[in-house]
Amino acid sequence: MNKEWKNKSVFISPSILAADFSCLGDEISKVLGLGADMIHFDVMDGVFVPNISLGIPVVESLRKRFDNVFFDVHLMIVEPERYVLDFVKAGGNLITFHIESTRHPHRVIESIKRSGAKVGVALNPGTPVILLKEIFDILDVVLVMSVNPGFYGQSFISSSLKKISELDVVRKENGFDFLIEVDGGLNEKNVEKVISAGANILVFGAFLFKGATAENFKAILDKIRIEDKIKSED
Ligand code: DX5
Ligand code: ZN
Repeated sequence: MNKEWKNKSVFISPSILAADFSCLGDEISKVLGLGADMIHFDVMDGVFVPNISLGIPVVESLRKRFDNVFFDVHLMIVEPERYVLDFVKAGGNLITFHIESTRHPHRVIESIKRSGAKVGVALNPGTPVILLKEIFDILDVVLVMSVNPGFYGQSFISSSLKKISELDVVRKENGFDFLIEVDGGLNEKNVEKVISAGANILVFGAFLFKGATAENFKAILDKIRIEDKIKSED
């Protein structure tokens, strides 16, 4: 995936937060087998969000088993500058931090970029797009949180669609090339709307690990690939 960055317009990034932690490696193999493009790691510190999840050793050990898989690391931690390079070293290919979590977003972006990893910035549902005005041009990904971060299995906040469209317009009008990632509450009912609004990376947690059957998920993937084809022919 590293080499193929941006070879598609829509990517699937399963969130292992909703997987069975007692057999994480096998859960990852399963979703890769179903057609996932990358793996989404939700890192939580119990301060930025009211939950504690996984950290550096988990990324590191899974990197040993999945040496060619693209690791999409979503940091929901305060002062991400203290840890971003450790997550790159552990095997993260894309490191996304929250704009609300640091006083020095530009500095954090520069340090991730210097390490050779891709960089993303995430927006909580209550955070406006305008906050990214000065950094749009140096981002690889903008992550739109479509639930309040902290837990899998929450309902999609419908106003996120407006935010995705707004980002898509900013991107087109200015020729920016960041991808739009959407994270939280995605399922078979809202996925098409999210793609039409401009999303490129789709995070699936509960839907994939706790809900969808392999057949259902394959049906979604087929839909996505059709949308992808239409988009790339635009
Ligand atoms: C929430 C996380 C999400 C979440 C996705 O804080 O960032 O990645 O686990 O799970 P679902 O799809 O169940 O909302
Ligand atoms: Zn996430």
